Amino acid sequence: MCGIVGYIGNKNCIPILLNGLKRLEYRGYDSAGIAYIANGEAHFVKNKGKVSSLEDKLRNLNIVSNLGIGHTRWATHGVPNEINAHPHFNMAKNLFVIHNGIIENYQTIRTSLINLGYNFITETDSEVIPHLIDRFLNEGHSLCRSVQFALNEVQGTYGIAVIYLNEPDKIIAARKGSPLVVGIGENENFVASDVSAILAYTKQVVYLEDGEMAVVYKDHFTAKTIADVEIEKEVTEITMTLDEIDKGGYAHFMLKEIMEQPDSVQNSMRGRLLFDEGTAKLGGLETVADRLVDSKRIIISACGTSWHSALVGEYMLEQKARVPTEVEYASEFRYRNPIINKDDAIIFISQSGETADTLAALREAKQRGALAIGICNVVGSSIARESMSGIYTHAGPEIGVASTKAFSSQLIVLALITLMIARRKDMSLVDGKNIAVEMEKLPDKIRQILKLNDEIEFIANEFKSSRNFLYLGRGYNFPVALEGALKLKEISYIHAEGYPAAEMKHGPIALIDDNMPVVFIAPKDSTYDKIVSNIEEIRARRGRIIAIASENDDNIDKLVDYSIKIPDTIRMLMPILSVIPLQLLAYHIAVKKGLNVDQPRNLAKSVTVE
Ligand code: AGP
Repeated sequence: MCGIVGYIGNKNCIPILLNGLKRLEYRGYDSAGIAYIANGEAHFVKNKGKVSSLEDKLRNLNIVSNLGIGHTRWATHGVPNEINAHPHFNMAKNLFVIHNGIIENYQTIRTSLINLGYNFITETDSEVIPHLIDRFLNEGHSLCRSVQFALNEVQGTYGIAVIYLNEPDKIIAARKGSPLVVGIGENENFVASDVSAILAYTKQVVYLEDGEMAVVYKDHFTAKTIADVEIEKEVTEITMTLDEIDKGGYAHFMLKEIMEQPDSVQNSMRGRLLFDEGTAKLGGLETVADRLVDSKRIIISACGTSWHSALVGEYMLEQKARVPTEVEYASEFRYRNPIINKDDAIIFISQSGETADTLAALREAKQRGALAIGICNVVGSSIARESMSGIYTHAGPEIGVASTKAFSSQLIVLALITLMIARRKDMSLVDGKNIAVEMEKLPDKIRQILKLNDEIEFIANEFKSSRNFLYLGRGYNFPVALEGALKLKEISYIHAEGYPAAEMKHGPIALIDDNMPVVFIAPKDSTYDKIVSNIEEIRARRGRIIAIASENDDNIDKLVDYSIKIPDTIRMLMPILSVIPLQLLAYHIAVKKGLNVDQPRNLAKSVTVE
């Protein structure tokens, strides 16, 4: 996600742009920039780092301008640096574009524009937009028509704002898949990713929908479709407070990020599934794909929640790609003088890309000649940069300390890697297509589960005073049991443990009494009957049971105290669905305990120390 803001009116736009970008920094904060028109000239200023460092750069320039756009970046393509920061511009440097989203076909567009003589200076997907618009301007079209023609060439998602020196009376905004609003003022108007950037100046906004654009002047605006059809748009009065808006109207970033998972999971898959070939296209692994496919063993190393996704990845890779796979805590891996062979592939998973133990394990693996691959969420992070190859999860900024959407996006990437390897080995086209089709259904199934939020909140209220919890699962869902337990303990401070369900009889069952809530992950899969036996064992000892079950399971309700029914999918993808109720259960218990959900005690979002 990135933050976009634009201003046209009688005031100086610079302070308005900077204030707006500061309100949008929760959307992305690795680099920032502005473009503006003043005294018949167009200028831009960009900076790596937070908006405050851009502000420092602007402070002594004494710029006065009535038209400008600003952007704070969450890098998806191209490391965070000044060159890759937005705005991007045409070769004449008189047209400036800021973009939020992912251009899936940017490589194709880039190649065709280079063949037409265009020069690219960044590593980003977004830079194709100004050059595309420029191409149509050079054919004599207006800025509005040129933007329309350009966007018709683009596949993927965008929320853009555009300014052009030769038409200095307007900002053009257009939306497909990334939010964009027009703010209506008195002899001034605004464009922004969301209302938090402009609420200090106006409460009158117009929400653009996908496929719509606005031509914004200082005293009015016109709305059109990308196909140049004029449309009427309703002006809405904003009632939310600024603090609520920063969190997208949610009480906490953690809840916002849980609720974002249909979109973040979609973004993790975007442009990476080849349905006809029943496989995955992973640009970041292209240079090492053969070595990865031929590796004799895969080791996955990570910490915390990322270690849990690694455990799911182990099941995926061994069951579907038939590759011997081991999972290692990065903190253990780096110190135990591990046996690493040159035909090993080692995958390092890290949301932040800065976890000290994982980074050190990566360096150790490279030292010993293994293929080192990174799966990170933060573009340009240390682990991403030091990996020999890698894939970004594209989950967007994860602000809440307790990881949620990053986990589901890590599982998506592991499923894509598994699919790619498996289809290069023995997996049939039919099986590959089935996995791809099931992956494409996940966002809607997650939306279905999120509708159970109130029901899960009710259950949370029943257990908010518990002092211990057990989480049990089998197979792919054993790591989900571990993740559910971690979510609960790190934000509610309730002691919780995850176990393979069959392990109960080897000791932990001694803990069971009517004060011990037990969460079972019990979808109707091949281990269901065994899980039901485990549930009976707990019931016999008066344990209180919450089951995450299949929506078509009408047997389990008479066995448990509470059941949360979720849609089914194939086993290897079930963790992406079964974890959602556990995230919400932990969230609501912590909220009901009045705890700081986004910044739990003793924890940090990125553990950059050993
Ligand atoms: C997860 O909710 C925790 N915040 C923590 O375990 C985290 O997963 C761990 O520190 C690893 O972080 P990383 O993915 O950024 O490397």
